Amino acid sequence: MSRHNERPSDSGPAIVVDKVSVRYASGQWALENVSLTLESSSICALLGINGSGKSTLCKAIMGFLPPASGRVAIFKHAVRHAQRRNIMAYVPQVEEIDWDFPVSVYDVVMMGRQGRMGFLRIPARADRVAVETSLARVGIADLAKRQIGALSGGQKKRVFLARALAQESRIMVLDEPFTGVDATTENAIIDILKQLRDEGMTILVVTHNLSVVPEYCDTVAMINRNLIAFGKTEHVFTPANLAQAFGGVLRQFPLDLLAQEREPVQEHLP
Ligand SMILES: Nc1ncnc2c1ncn2[C@@H]1O[C@H](COP(=O)(O)OP(=O)(O)O)[C@@H](O)[C@H]1O
Ligand SMILES: [Mg+2]
Repeated sequence: MSRHNERPSDSGPAIVVDKVSVRYASGQWALENVSLTLESSSICALLGINGSGKSTLCKAIMGFLPPASGRVAIFKHAVRHAQRRNIMAYVPQVEEIDWDFPVSVYDVVMMGRQGRMGFLRIPARADRVAVETSLARVGIADLAKRQIGALSGGQKKRVFLARALAQESRIMVLDEPFTGVDATTENAIIDILKQLRDEGMTILVVTHNLSVVPEYCDTVAMINRNLIAFGKTEHVFTPANLAQAFGGVLRQFPLDLLAQEREPVQEHLP
């Protein structure tokens, strides 16, 4: 029997990816038969080499790319339904953004509120408060009036995290939020992700910073077009799976973690 105040449609897993395959118009299969389930209030790391399909999987979950087969469900509903209800926020990979677009930090973060505005898109007081709160939360309140193109890599990441926060969604998908940022920013972002998880948010984060994954990720998914492994971090984040996911291209094995394993791991460094 469900509890009184529980919304039945929002119970169960936050994200179900069920045998999803994605093919680009070029004919390239970027994902084949990938399945995973993210429980609500959890952080999942998505790991894999360049070109393994991480961004493609993020976009399929967000509903930006239609699967050739399989399906994605968000709180048991179709992705389109979740989009309409403003349930998912997305922090894109930096390479996918046109930085020459003349727009202020404040306006970028306000874009996170669009799904909550009327069709005239006029910000209400609640929208302005959400933008200001989000800017402060990621530590860039002082940058509000700056042009987005004039920021450092770490500052840009914080802006897009603030935009996602302003959306007040229940799911956040972050594509390489730590790439090109300094250690201070990385730690600040990880702290925010942990807080969001503890507030009930479900988070999928693409990252190459392997050594900190066990510190904040509840589950790990490794892909290379197909799913290599998925499950609780302590079960899946193993040298054998990492070697399978990264093989010869892994330059920075998390040596401190591997040192805890009994068997020595052979490195295939070029
Ligand atoms: N728009 C596209 N058109 C054709 N192929 C693409 C497109 N985007 C990505 N790909 C290909 O799909 C594969 C997966 O890409 P992607 O999901 O971006 O990988 P990752 O994010 O893991 O680096 C790669 O082989 C890439 O070249
Ligand atoms: Mg990518």
